[in-house]
Order: sequence, then C-alpha cells, then structure tokens
Amino acid sequence: MTRYRIAWLPGDGIGIDVMKATRIVLDRLGLEADYVHADIGWEFWCREGEALPERTCKILRETDCALFGAITSKPKEEAQEELVSELKGKGLSYRSPIVRLRQDFNLHTNLRPCKAYKGNPLNYREDIDLTVFRENTEGLYAGVEFHPVPQAVSDVLGQHSAPWKKFGKLPLDEVAISTRVMTRGGCRSIVTRAFEYAKKRGYQKVTLVEKPNVLRETGGLMTRVARAVARDYPSIAFDEANVDAMCMWLIKNPNSYQVLVCENMFGDIISDLCGQLVGGLGFASSGNIGDTYAVFEPTHGSAPKYSGLDKVNPIATFLAAKLMLDWLGEADKAVRLEGAIAGVIAAGQARTYDMGGKTTTTEMAQAVAAAL
Ligand code: NAI
Ligand code: MG
Repeated sequence: MTRYRIAWLPGDGIGIDVMKATRIVLDRLGLEADYVHADIGWEFWCREGEALPERTCKILRETDCALFGAITSKPKEEAQEELVSELKGKGLSYRSPIVRLRQDFNLHTNLRPCKAYKGNPLNYREDIDLTVFRENTEGLYAGVEFHPVPQAVSDVLGQHSAPWKKFGKLPLDEVAISTRVMTRGGCRSIVTRAFEYAKKRGYQKVTLVEKPNVLRETGGLMTRVARAVARDYPSIAFDEANVDAMCMWLIKNPNSYQVLVCENMFGDIISDLCGQLVGGLGFASSGNIGDTYAVFEPTHGSAPKYSGLDKVNPIATFLAAKLMLDWLGEADKAVRLEGAIAGVIAAGQARTYDMGGKTTTTEMAQAVAAAL
C-alpha cells in the first residue's frame, strides 16, 4: 500500500475547524498518509511579512499533494496596518497565497464539481450535476496589471486609433489597466481536460462559457481552440454560451448542462453560481491541479465570525478530500467517502446551521465517519 505525504494547510478562522473535522473522516477511511502541517495565512503575513512562507513551499515540494482550509486576506491599507512594527514601511506588499500557489506551482486546472446530493434542503433543484473547469493561471487574473500606467504603454495607446487613443492622452496615474492574457497552450489544455473528464465520466456535453463577440481577441482565441479540440471528441456534444447569458441559463435550466469550461475570471464567477445551486459554500469544493502537484480546498473563506465555534459545515472540505483521493488514484476510497457523505445528507439527521439544523462541525464529521 502506498503511504502518502500530504501537506496539511488549515490556514485561518474556520479553515482550522473544517480541517480538524476532515481528519476524523480521513482517519476512519484508513488512508495511509502522513499529514505534514504547514503554515499559511494572515498570521504569517502580520508576523513575517509573508502569508506563504518559503518553509511552506518547501513542504509542498516534498509532498504528494496538499489539502488547504481557508485564509483571511484584507485590503492593501489594512494589510500594512497589521504588520508588526519592525516590518512596517519596508515596502512589503501582500500577495494572495492562493493565487501564488496556483501560479508558482503551475496548478493550471481548477476543477469544481457541483452536485445536488439527494435530500440536501439547500438544493436549488434536484439532479443538478455540473462540473466547472476553470483555467487557473492566465486570463484576467494573470496578474498583468498597471497603475500608474507605464509611459511605454501609454504611448502605444495614444498612437492607436479610437477607442485606445483617449486612454493614452490621460496622465499616467489617471488610468489603471488589468489585462486579460490568454495563450493558445493554456486554452487548449483547459478545454482538453474538460473533454477528457467528460469522456472518462460519461458526460455527454461540454459547454464553453466565453464572450467572444466583445472580447474578440482572447475570447476569439479560446473559441477557435475549443472548436478544434471538440473535433477530437465526436461522441461528446460541444456548445458555446456567452457568460452573461449563461448566468441566466444556469438558473433557468441547470439540468441542461454537464461540463462547463471557462477562462479564469469567468470560471470564478460561474463556479460560485453553480456552487449556490447545490447548497452554497458549505458544499463547494475545488481542486487546483497541475501536472505533478495539486492543492484541494473548500472554496469558502475563513468566515471570522464563526471561527473556532465548531459550527460551520465541513462537507465542502470532505468533498475536497474526495477530489484529492480521486487525484491520488484512490478510487475506492473516493467512492466510499462520497457515498458516506451522500448517505448522511439523505438520512437527514445531521444538519449544520446552514442546512437549518444544530449539528456541529465535529458531529457532522462523526456522522460521516460512522457512515463509513
Ligand atoms: P467566507 O467564505 O469566509 O464566508 C462568507 C459567509 O459564508 C460566512 O459568513 C458564512 O455565513 C458562510 N459560510 C462560509 N463557509 C461556510 C461553511 N463551511 N459552512 C456554512 N457557512 C459557511 O467569505 P467572506 O466572509 O467574504 O471572507 C472572509 C475572509 O475569507 C476574508 O478575509 C476573505 O478574504 C477570505 N477568503 C478566503 C478564501 C480562501 O481562503 N479560499 C476564499 C474567500 C474568502
Ligand atoms: Mg471565488
């Protein structure tokens, strides 16, 4: 039996509560693993000026994959304010450790399955089974941003015809630019992974969510690449929708869709919508997957007001652990875990506050462990 080394990153707030609960479930499942605790989050920003310390990156490089709870992050001014006095005014700037993890470890694929488990009182509709594939390192979140705008960029704008020209005429500090950077390789990779997933799991349709009529260059590239990839999968239907229309269609006919594939920001937005259709933050899990490493997490944040209260729903983190088991190749354990979660939801006894009940985080873990 393989013994895994799993980086264990509880982070801040309820990240700690839900990860503790998840250990109860993984231990009952009998996963042969060493869990290596690693520091991440706000506390390390305040004390060390780095929310993702190098020692944590080292642990990540030496483990098979990571399970991550949640972190707190705050706007620029507050981030400076909360630094210990020795670090203030040293020019440190806060960078989201999650975005860094995705970029530095090239976790190019964000996988977000959203399933309406039977008996979940929070289901928007029954039988929803959506999976979002979100490109995780490029697009509008690539981090290529300017403010003030460099002179060279301003010159390029100013020399161009309308509508660029007017931005090049303004003082550099009057303009902020966030660019949407997409590569052919990045587009091909995310679309291919969506089709491979559909093929492996027997889904009949992949839908590209874009906006190529307005974002003509980036959206156009993604659309052309997706159509070409789709031709290699003749048994799977391919369709295209604009992101704004998709928000309506997902509310109107959520059962008409199966696998969705998107650029980074569109995927971020669409996957929150899909998550809410099947119970919201207490049920939304995701995997950040690269070629050789992956980080699994619930998609919620650190919810400071519930921190340490043993109150929030740990199911999102259990489902993240299930994705981790899939990725490790522990298919039997993944199926058993999902079955136990589904069983507990269907039985209707254990209900955390978001589901309208009084079950604690720990009790929910015990219920799933018992079902295992
Ligand atoms: P949040 O996701 O932490 O919480 C929003 C609300 O959702 C909570 O007040 C609670 O009502 C509900 N909720 C969240 N998780 C739940 C669970 N497991 N069970 C039941 N209900 C749950 O988002 P918020 O309040 O906007 O952000 C709090 C902090 O978390 C901020 O510092 C933010 O930057 C950070 N954040 C971190 C993320 C991450 O680590 N991946 C993602 C989102 C926010
Ligand atoms: Mg999000």
